[in-house]
Amino acid sequence: MRSPKDKPFQAHTSSPIIALDSVSHSYPETDKVHPVLHNASLQIMPGEKLALLGRSGSGKTTLLNLIAGIDSPDSGKITVAGQQSEGLSDTERTLLRRHHIGFIYQFFNLVPSLSAIENVALTLELNGVGSAEALAKSRALLQRLGISGKEHRLPSRLSGGEQQRVAIARALIHSPSIVLADEPTGNLDARTGEAVLSVLHEVLSESHSCLLLVTHSLAVAKTVDRILTMEDGIISEQHGEFAW
Ligand SMILES: Nc1ncnc2c1ncn2[C@@H]1O[C@H](COP(=O)(O)OP(=O)(O)OP(=O)(O)O)[C@@H](O)[C@H]1O
Ligand SMILES: [Mg+2]
Repeated sequence: MRSPKDKPFQAHTSSPIIALDSVSHSYPETDKVHPVLHNASLQIMPGEKLALLGRSGSGKTTLLNLIAGIDSPDSGKITVAGQQSEGLSDTERTLLRRHHIGFIYQFFNLVPSLSAIENVALTLELNGVGSAEALAKSRALLQRLGISGKEHRLPSRLSGGEQQRVAIARALIHSPSIVLADEPTGNLDARTGEAVLSVLHEVLSESHSCLLLVTHSLAVAKTVDRILTMEDGIISEQHGEFAW
């Protein structure tokens, strides 16, 4: 049964689907703490597409993990799809993620014992879709991403770029309102990367999802509406001509 906190997000053009208010986060080390985010504030509206650039170790994955509720901030407020993450139980966080978020992990995180198609279908099945329909939809999306003929292989029998495309399909299959993409074309050659990026944008437009895309590529960043950079724990928005 759905709890009141588990209701679908009603998109109002005036309310952000993701809001961070003065969020700070650090990791404990043996004799000190290692600060990663410092008073970060950010608002993303439904359907908006943003890129996030920043040096290795600047905190991009940490930011996505905080938004997804995989990690909790030391201070500040994070609101996702109308729900403030601080007050949520672990189960409520899981349901929020399952219903509203598609996360393309930097290192894929595919379930090793499930085939490519089962990895994708699992997201739908956890959301209550019957197995036959889930498999048919998953097959079609994998086909769009160029994985036809290999959908019954285990992840260990796919190349890094193929695993990445399965991870993309898994994140998009349930038409989430939020897609968090951590270097989603990082393991692909330029031509495959372009093709996959265009499928990603097509699917996002079909489902009116917002996108927060981590990338090291300015060309990839230029395919979105807004570009953010992270440096020394601070998130800044870039305007006009921008070199990286
Ligand atoms: N679980 C953890 N425990 C301790 N420190 C961590 C942990 N995860 C990340 N860090 C540290 O926090 C900082 C930010 O890490 P994060 O993974 O967010 O960087 P990133 O910007 O995603 O880097 P990359 O571009 O290499 O993926 C790094 O200095 C990293 O060493
Ligand atoms: Mg990272």
